[in-house]
Parts: sequence; structure tokens; C-alpha cells
Amino acid sequence: MIVKQAEFLTSIATTDKLEQLTLPQFAFVGRSNVGKSSLLNALCNRKNLAKTSSTPGRTRLVNIFQVNKSFLFVDLPGYGFAKASKTEQAGWQNLIGTYLEHSKNLQMVFVLVDCRHQPTEKDLQMVDYLYAYQIPFKVVATKTDKLNKSEFLKSKNVVASTLGLGKDDIIFVSSEKKQNIDKIWEVVESKL
Ligand code: GTP
Ligand code: MG
Repeated sequence: MIVKQAEFLTSIATTDKLEQLTLPQFAFVGRSNVGKSSLLNALCNRKNLAKTSSTPGRTRLVNIFQVNKSFLFVDLPGYGFAKASKTEQAGWQNLIGTYLEHSKNLQMVFVLVDCRHQPTEKDLQMVDYLYAYQIPFKVVATKTDKLNKSEFLKSKNVVASTLGLGKDDIIFVSSEKKQNIDKIWEVVESKL
């Protein structure tokens, strides 16, 4: 995919606005700091389209980006941000749920997990949730540049077995080194 246009469209917090978003949508979800915003930037070849930060909990709204005037990338708030209060966390979870249940034309959810860690209970819950609602999803393991070869092979087993998926069902990427970004594009293109 050649990205000719990529721009921030809007932030949402209510279902009303969701009705107005009718272009095909691709959402990025995962725990805070996993690299959602960075992946979005890597896909669009822009450094600061989505704001990234080493401080977890940076993205607190559902941020929508329009690409090539024809589809939308949706940057969802991170879940499991320990420093946020319980009420704040509940608010974000609701926002993620609201988006996933009420969005029009949601094509695919990319569930991001950090390849250096075993997927958490929250990641499993997200995968179960998407199964239950029959929302198509693809698991993406991020930050592969942080692993050496043997760690990488181990990570493939751990991520796949923890989530009950096949090793080939998971896309391993590095947004930093721009590795396997094309694999994400293949999935997006297959849905357009
Ligand atoms: P929230 O908005 O808080 O939910 O986080 P996020 O999932 O959007 O993460 P973000 O993209 O802001 O990245 C978090 C941190 O991880 C930043 O310091 C990034 O530079 C770093 N990071 C993201 N992707 C990669 C990667 O592929 N490799 C490396 N080495 N670092 C990465
Ligand atoms: Mg973010």
C-alpha cells in the first residue's frame, strides 16, 4: 500500500460520533506501552501521526486516522495501565468496549502483545471477547528488535501457546526497524 494521505480525523468518546464513521476501520488494541501508536506511525511512514510515549497511558481516547481517504486506522486506549485509578481504568475499558460493539464497518482488530513478555490475562480476555463478538482479529507481537534469535524463537512458542493460536497466526513486527510492517498491510489490503 502506498500511503498518499494520512491524517488525524477525530477523537471519540461517545457512540453518536461512531455512527458517522462509515469508512472501513482497522483498530489497534493492546496493553498500554505495547506500541500501538508506533505501529500506526510505521504503517503510515509518519513519525508523529499518532503520539507515542515511553510513559504508559499516553493514548486515552479513541483516536481516528484517515488513510488515503478510503479507510480508517483506530488507535484505542491501552488497557492495564497500573498507575491509573480504578475508575479511570474502567472508563477506558468502557470506551474500548463501546467502540468495538458500536463501530460501523469494523474490518479487523489488531491485538498487540509485547513479544518480550508472556501475554497477560487482559490480552487473553481481549482475544476471548473478540471471539465471543465474532469480530475478526489478528495478533501482532511487537518490538522484535529487542530480542536475539533464540529469544525470538522462544517468544514465538510462548505467545502462540498462551493465546491458544498457531505460531503462523501471529505477525511479529518491529515498528522501530520497520520489520514485517508489510505483513500488516497484506491483512489490511485483503479486507478492502
Ligand atoms: P499507550 O498509548 O500508552 O497505550 O501506548 P502505545 O501502545 O501506543 O505505545 P507507543 O507506541 O507509545 O510505544 C511505547 C514505547 O515503546 C515508546 O517508547 C516506543 O518508542 C516504544 N516502541 C514502540 N514500538 C517499538 C519497537 O518496535 N521497537 C522498540 N525498540 N521500541 C518500540
Ligand atoms: Mg498510544
